[in-house]
Amino acid sequence: MTLGFIGIGHIASALVTGLCASPGWSEPILLSPRNRANAAALASRLAPVRVAADNQAVLDGSDSIVLALRPQQAPEALSGLRWRPDQPILSLMAMLPEASVRRLTGSAAPIVRAVPLPTAAERQGPIAIWPGDPAAAALLARAGTVIVAESEPALHAFWAVTGLVSTYYGVADRLASWLQHHDIEAGEAAAYVGSFLQAIGGTLAQAPGSGFAGLARAASTRGGLNEQASRELAQAGWFASLEPALDGILRRLEGGTAPPEVG
Ligand SMILES: NC(=O)c1ccc[n+]([C@@H]2O[C@H](COP(=O)([O-])OP(=O)(O)OC[C@H]3O[C@@H](n4cnc5c(N)ncnc54)[C@H](OP(=O)(O)O)[C@@H]3O)[C@@H](O)[C@H]2O)c1
Repeated sequence: MTLGFIGIGHIASALVTGLCASPGWSEPILLSPRNRANAAALASRLAPVRVAADNQAVLDGSDSIVLALRPQQAPEALSGLRWRPDQPILSLMAMLPEASVRRLTGSAAPIVRAVPLPTAAERQGPIAIWPGDPAAAALLARAGTVIVAESEPALHAFWAVTGLVSTYYGVADRLASWLQHHDIEAGEAAAYVGSFLQAIGGTLAQAPGSGFAGLARAASTRGGLNEQASRELAQAGWFASLEPALDGILRRLEGGTAPPEVG
């Protein structure tokens, strides 16, 4: 079974890396030539990976296809390609609902949408998928923890949360900068903040019976430092501002980018 990829950017590179690192992986992977540097780097590093001459050669040489283009690139990249009806499609593309992917490809084959994270390279993190196709779920379970969304709107809701990755890193950056303003050397500040966030983040995955709010309560000793900080940040609207930000991301994911019709 050859797995073909069209669009070799950040997320395709992460997923290919994670798949090839998974135990027992031996399936050939065929990449589109663009981005040329990324495709060449993956092929030189990973034995199962080859680079095709063009996008059509990926379709012709693969049993199933992963689409990892930016939504605005998809109409041009997919236009005029000849798809086989037995060639399932796994689309990682945001803002292109299943109906748009079907229109752009003209394919009658099953289409699954999925949301890997860059941490798929380390075979970590959630990968929301919809619909819950068993073959797609088994493939992606090699690169993370598969969560099957009940519906396409539910997939969009999971997807919206992934829009906060850079905010999370931004918080880490603010903490490290603040330490530097208090005369702590940059490397030491970064090492401290990285270790701190990794340690407290690790407890989240244990999904306590009392929920995340229970973890927050347990960390907030009455009259203590954590209680003071979370009260002041709540009063400043810090927590409340998350929901409108997520709502805004969700509106974009649901609204789509209205790609032009093909064919
Ligand atoms: N990054 C993430 O964490 C993440 C997570 C989940 C889903 N996604 C989704 O995955 C998609 C890709 O995201 P990304 O971050 O990987 O973007 P990206 O790094 O820009 O990758 C897009 C790739 O598509 C290539 N491309 C452009 N036009 C093409 C064409 N005509 N034929 C073949 N390849 C072409 C680009 O090549 P050039 O560099 O030469 O333009 C680039 O390598 C997006 O829809 C995004 O929503 C991303």
